[in-house]
Amino acid sequence: MKGIILAGGSGTRLQPLTLVSSKQLAPVYDKPMIYYPLSILMFAGIRDVLIITRPGELAAFRQLLGDGGALGLSLSYAAQDEPRGIADAFLVGADHIAGEECALVLGDNLFHGADLPLLLRRSVRRLDGCVLFGHQVADPERYGVAEIDQEGRLVSIEEKPEKPRSNLAVPGLYFFDGHVVDIAGGVRPSDRGELEITDVLRAYLAQGRARLVWLGRGVTWLDTGTHETLLEAGEFVRHVQRHQGMRIACLEEIALHMGFIGVEECYELGAAMGHSPYGQYVMDRARSYLPERALAKLLEEA
Ligand code: G1P
Repeated sequence: MKGIILAGGSGTRLQPLTLVSSKQLAPVYDKPMIYYPLSILMFAGIRDVLIITRPGELAAFRQLLGDGGALGLSLSYAAQDEPRGIADAFLVGADHIAGEECALVLGDNLFHGADLPLLLRRSVRRLDGCVLFGHQVADPERYGVAEIDQEGRLVSIEEKPEKPRSNLAVPGLYFFDGHVVDIAGGVRPSDRGELEITDVLRAYLAQGRARLVWLGRGVTWLDTGTHETLLEAGEFVRHVQRHQGMRIACLEEIALHMGFIGVEECYELGAAMGHSPYGQYVMDRARSYLPERALAKLLEEA
């Protein structure tokens, strides 16, 4: 399965922070924002990822993440010259998708939860049409909103409705089959002049091939659209990391656990940032990996 991170948009709500640098490079506590959506694709087992940004920001993303080889990934980059909407990512990324299944994650969406890796891998395995997620929020009118029937089947999806039919917001993470480029090609711009992701999801729903997976209590979904919520996301990450002693979205650690890189490679990546607590953490994770693996095996056999 291919992956796309959409890191475009002009970030006007975060100015002046975003005047010369992309929103998705802004710090969320100890790492750039894009680490978080990238970690989600990695947990889903996706290694071939296209990052779509504004033209002037390609170089900065490339400088940060390179070709991904160090993490056992294959990263490529493409520019979206105008913010034409989320569904435009499939048109910009058509060559990258090349008729395969594809996951799309928005570069400013943060997810965290112990259940998440399993949930993602299961969604990839059981994909038939598309998978979207639902998360209960207090302010659904700010998002795509899903409505489900008594049996939990998806019945409608609306983009930022004035009168939401439920409190289930649809986060910016979606899985699609190989038809998504054709379907996105048939979507017309909305009143706000954008190709809406909601219209792509609706087209799948009309074919009876859209499945909603509920992100239950075990999963946190954070928005970073305003200065307030950006700071809150940073505070959340700091709090969880401090109290659990584990880092969220540590790409080197995830690459090691997913088997994308080996222990030594992971250690070296940490050592290259060894003056920072993040680098020290990566080195520690590499050092303790083998004993932890042995422990996990013992528990499995017990
Ligand atoms: C976009 C989507 C919306 C989704 C949200 C998640 O909204 O259009 O359906 O719920 O991302 O972050 P936007 O960020 O463009 O307002």
